[in-house]
Amino acid sequence: MADISIRDVRKAYGKDEVVHGVSLDIRNGEFVVILGPSGCGKSTLLRMIAGLEAITSGEIAIAGKVVNELEPRHRGCAMVFQNYALYPHMSVADNIGYALKVAGMNKADRLEKVTRVAGSVGLGEFLDRKPGQLSGGQRQRVAMARAIIREPKVFLFDEPLSNLDAKLRTQMRHEIRRIHNRIKATSVFVTHDQHEGMTLADRMVIMNKGTIEQVGTPEDVYLHPASTYVAGFIGSPAMNFLSGRITEAQRAVLIDGGARLAITPEAARGHDGLRVQVGLRPEQIGLAQPGQPGMTAAFDFAEELGSARLYHFLHDGQPVTVHSDQKVDFTVGQDVTLAIPEASVHLFDATTTRSLTADTALQARAAARLHVA
Ligand SMILES: Nc1ncnc2c1ncn2[C@@H]1O[C@H](COP(=O)(O)OP(=O)(O)O)[C@@H](O)[C@H]1O
Ligand SMILES: [Mg+2]
Repeated sequence: MADISIRDVRKAYGKDEVVHGVSLDIRNGEFVVILGPSGCGKSTLLRMIAGLEAITSGEIAIAGKVVNELEPRHRGCAMVFQNYALYPHMSVADNIGYALKVAGMNKADRLEKVTRVAGSVGLGEFLDRKPGQLSGGQRQRVAMARAIIREPKVFLFDEPLSNLDAKLRTQMRHEIRRIHNRIKATSVFVTHDQHEGMTLADRMVIMNKGTIEQVGTPEDVYLHPASTYVAGFIGSPAMNFLSGRITEAQRAVLIDGGARLAITPEAARGHDGLRVQVGLRPEQIGLAQPGQPGMTAAFDFAEELGSARLYHFLHDGQPVTVHSDQKVDFTVGQDVTLAIPEASVHLFDATTTRSLTADTALQARAAARLHVA
């Protein structure tokens, strides 16, 4: 068992605190992705788990044992970096088996184990090659195999795919997920790429400037972002934001510029007059049929995606993007009615930036999951 418990962990470089009291529980066998923009403290957090960076305050435990003072090599973590750090003069087999050799394992046992692990990541035919004779993806697999062979309790990945071209990145992402499904080691994967995070994670941790904004399954975080920060970071194209004010009596939000959108009773209750940011996902807005209620916006331009289109509108000067598989040719400046189901209206307190509804919705989802389980 290798669960990881992070308790109020802080990191300061001199007077400069860059991780501000992070707490997180990672379950045994879970694949957790830490997602956030460059500079938000992802690598620092990962390196503190690995022991490559000292913790300024707080506590980290791996498999129930506090590791604050433990040397990196005694923590049972294997780290996979962006540059694979392979030995160029050694064969693939020797690269993979190097740790076993250092540990004094005899040649026959080593060969047996190297062959098995290399096979498990699809490197069986390449054992005699040098890293220079491999593609980027194959080198990445060698790096993975070298980590796997040590049978670590925990895998730590720091943006391992960032240097690869788009196609290879996708292949390697699939490879990493397959390997995880097979060996089920606890994994913590750092990335700034929301798509990579969404597709790999059992649970995502969204970081912002050294703090955690939200922890949840990719679907939880997409459907019920806890703050405008998360809402704007997750989803492509990004969520639309419009300023407005809630009117409880009308069970609606009045958008600056005139539109009135129906909202759920839970969202309206107790929030009369509150200034809000209204979040609308481009894919949850429809092009209304004539006579259907909705929000009127002026057509600006469209982008063809092949299977769908992105339509760009302006509502009183505020941009609204719609992702739709309907193909309609509007003229510039034309008023178009947009259909907005009340369940798809995300409301964020304009002052705190926190969601008015995510907590309740997420509790309901968690309860439903328990019920099914
Ligand atoms: N060794 C260091 N000394 C001083 N500041 C550092 C050091 N390492 C990282 N930082 C700062 O800590 C912050 C977080 O960095 P990092 O964890 O690398 O972010 P990320 O991995 O999310 O891009 C950044 O502002 C960075 O400049
Ligand atoms: Mg980093």
